[in-house]
Amino acid sequence: MVGTLLLLLSAATNTGHHVQAHGAGIIEDSGKFYMIGEDKTDGSAFQNINCYSSTNLVEWTFENALLTQQPSGDLGPNRVVERPKVIYNDATSTYVMYLHIDSSNYGEAKVGVATSDTVCGDYNYHGSYRPLGFESRDIGLFKDDDGSAYLLTEDRPNGLRIDALSDDYLNTTRNVYLWNRNIESPAIWKKNGYYFMFGSLLTGWDPNDNVYSYATSLSGPWSPWKEFADDGANTYSSQTSFILPWGDSAIYMGDRWKSSNLMRSTYVWLPLELTGTTDIWLKNRVNWVPDAKSRTWAPGPSESRYEGEAATLSGGAVKASCSGCSGSSVIGYLGGPDAGRLEWTGVRSDATTRTTLRIRHLNGDSKERRATVSVNGIEQQVAFLPSENMNTPASASVHCDLKAGSANTIVISTSDGSWAPDIDQVFVPLS
Ligand code: DGJ
Repeated sequence: MVGTLLLLLSAATNTGHHVQAHGAGIIEDSGKFYMIGEDKTDGSAFQNINCYSSTNLVEWTFENALLTQQPSGDLGPNRVVERPKVIYNDATSTYVMYLHIDSSNYGEAKVGVATSDTVCGDYNYHGSYRPLGFESRDIGLFKDDDGSAYLLTEDRPNGLRIDALSDDYLNTTRNVYLWNRNIESPAIWKKNGYYFMFGSLLTGWDPNDNVYSYATSLSGPWSPWKEFADDGANTYSSQTSFILPWGDSAIYMGDRWKSSNLMRSTYVWLPLELTGTTDIWLKNRVNWVPDAKSRTWAPGPSESRYEGEAATLSGGAVKASCSGCSGSSVIGYLGGPDAGRLEWTGVRSDATTRTTLRIRHLNGDSKERRATVSVNGIEQQVAFLPSENMNTPASASVHCDLKAGSANTIVISTSDGSWAPDIDQVFVPLS
């Protein structure tokens, strides 16, 4: 099965909610990818550490909340619990999770450790500490080919550290390298004997031009830091979260934080391109297609656009104006008591294939809206995140099956009287 993985990840297949796995890492286990990240449904304070699974990196199923809010302590109300990362310890047959643990003003600056016997089971929280006695905020983990593992930790007074972990991975034992520079969101990728460290500069929730450095040994010498995406593009409005090895190259996974309502934050995943031994570049793309079997990827197909105003409207659905929408108009009053409904017929695809639609929508609420999206009669409940405002559309993606030819039909409605988002347009892959 081939899918078009879009830049913006959307609803989990089984929750009716957008994926909430921010600051995430990925661990592969028994042929599946597990994405473990922060639930920001209700803002920045700790709620859950969520785990989703996928076989193709495109469609994600919610598995479990690995850690949940406790009445008090490190995982209590109003706590900072960020950037969970999990690695497997072969010697103890245990999954080990590290997290950034902090008070709401980021004053404690510690790491927390949790373990589980299964990758997405309930984790047992062991407590928190300052690694080797130093402050620790953003973290990453790296497991080397020989099974040795390392904590990547941002120590604000001193810089970015690589600390070796004990054989059971539960403690830090010694410092391996210290950059006298503040770099957040650290992530290491190893390729052809080179270690590549990625990270961001310090600009809070706002994105900046992220950088990388490389070395043939974790203890250095490390190269000077340099940018790996278009200068001034703020890493395509994202912050490094994780680098997933992918065949000859790797996939950059970043967070596009929305600080005014963190549940609106989305995910920017793009293939990294490695030229020669150490030249890394990240190109911005609307879409691209990963192949999990061969660990390759291909550029995404071109798309046709269908405007909301060109659809057949029924129930209470009406056309309204929206300055940032295509054609300056949007279709509103979808769903609701009058069962507003929008239907595109004659939607063309050049292939009979599973693929991904991108829907541009407006949602002026502070929470998700839901709609039933029916493609050739197969209905899905799709979550639509709040948009910036009612003149700037946001994007949702919907995985579906299209038939070759122009006999495809897409319908957007609700069946429970709730309001769907307003719809600007849909992008339909051609192949
Ligand atoms: C940047 C960090 O990378 C995030 O994880 C988060 O801690 C924000 N700072 C908070 O401002």
